[in-house]
Amino acid sequence: TRTLRIALLGAGSVGSQVANLLLTQADEFAERAGARLELAGIAVRDVDAPRDVELPRELLTTDAKSLIEGSDIVIELMGGIEPARTHILTALNSGADVVTGNKALLATHGAEIFDTADQLGASVSYEAAVAGAIPIIRPLRDSLAGDRVQRVFGIVNGSTNFILDSMDRQGLSASEAQRIATELGYLEADPTLDLGGYDAAQKAAIIASLAFHTQVAIEDVHREGIENVTAGMIEGARRAGYTIKLLAVAERLQEEGGEAISVRVYPALISREHPLASVHGGNNAVYVSAAAAGDLMFYGAGAGGLQTASAVLGDVVSAARRHIAGGVGVGESARQSLPTAPIGRI
Ligand code: NDP
Ligand code: HSE
Repeated sequence: TRTLRIALLGAGSVGSQVANLLLTQADEFAERAGARLELAGIAVRDVDAPRDVELPRELLTTDAKSLIEGSDIVIELMGGIEPARTHILTALNSGADVVTGNKALLATHGAEIFDTADQLGASVSYEAAVAGAIPIIRPLRDSLAGDRVQRVFGIVNGSTNFILDSMDRQGLSASEAQRIATELGYLEADPTLDLGGYDAAQKAAIIASLAFHTQVAIEDVHREGIENVTAGMIEGARRAGYTIKLLAVAERLQEEGGEAISVRVYPALISREHPLASVHGGNNAVYVSAAAAGDLMFYGAGAGGLQTASAVLGDVVSAARRHIAGGVGVGESARQSLPTAPIGRI
């Protein structure tokens, strides 16, 4: 069996779980991917920092650049723009396929990254970038490629959903709920990204780009966060039969002179009868309305290290299959019978 060299950048909430699963389920991955996935190393800032999961000390390094060299697949789970962007471009230029969960990077530098990958015939997979464990990227990009998506809306940020839900149902203060969400690994390294609605706006830009086959920039997304939502507002909403959720909406609008796209993120009053009101804790839910398919609903864990590791590793297995098939596209290797569209761009 062939061996593929995997470089992991980041061993935080998500990366540590990805590393652990790669190490402990190596035989299963080899069977599914058609190649052994050898975790060659894990780049971190501080090799002595405490980890959610115990990892072999000899795999940890602060030298990401050397680790990337000669790797077949690079998994970027550091977050942020730099040095993640440079590492991903280096990986693509050295012939590696890339898997990332970095919506902040893709929503701002997606064109550069996907253009580079296209030119080099490499792939960049990012199922984990939107809605954690929920498969939503591939359904929008591939499964619905033959349909006309009209509207995508729902809850795409797990930490703010956890905070609002804990305030509503358990009467926790915003700061106590945020403390627990941090412990659960739901928040970004900079929590302002979650609380200010930036993370949801990045995801909404990615969703809208895929759903409407056009490039939606982060600047095009109307954004409001939950910083101004108080316990009093949540209590008032509850007494009136509502709950407050941070919504993301992307839709086609018919306007005079043609069609427009509206993408927005904002805290909204949701009737307690509505299914979105039952999305609790760190869960997300995404509704897709398409002309032929009708209404579809995607639901599950929107954040969390282990849950998100599932989405990352699904992409890793697909990238490995692609890699051993000579880069001809996921699904075209002898081991895989389901064809998929070429890697798309946002
Ligand atoms: P964490 O902040 O928990 O972990 C980041 C990791 O990257 C740490 O191990 C850190 O090293 C390492 N790192 C950061 N900067 C550098 C650097 N300059 N050089 C080397 N290593 C670096 O992040 P998460 O695991 O929560 O998230 C990772 C990515 O996944 C982000 O893009 C995030 O948006 C995305 N994501 C996260 C989800 C979640 O639920 N947490 C869900 C879906 C996506 P050290 O440990 O030494 O500090
Ligand atoms: N901080 C993000 C959230 C992680 O709370 O949804 C998952 O993308």
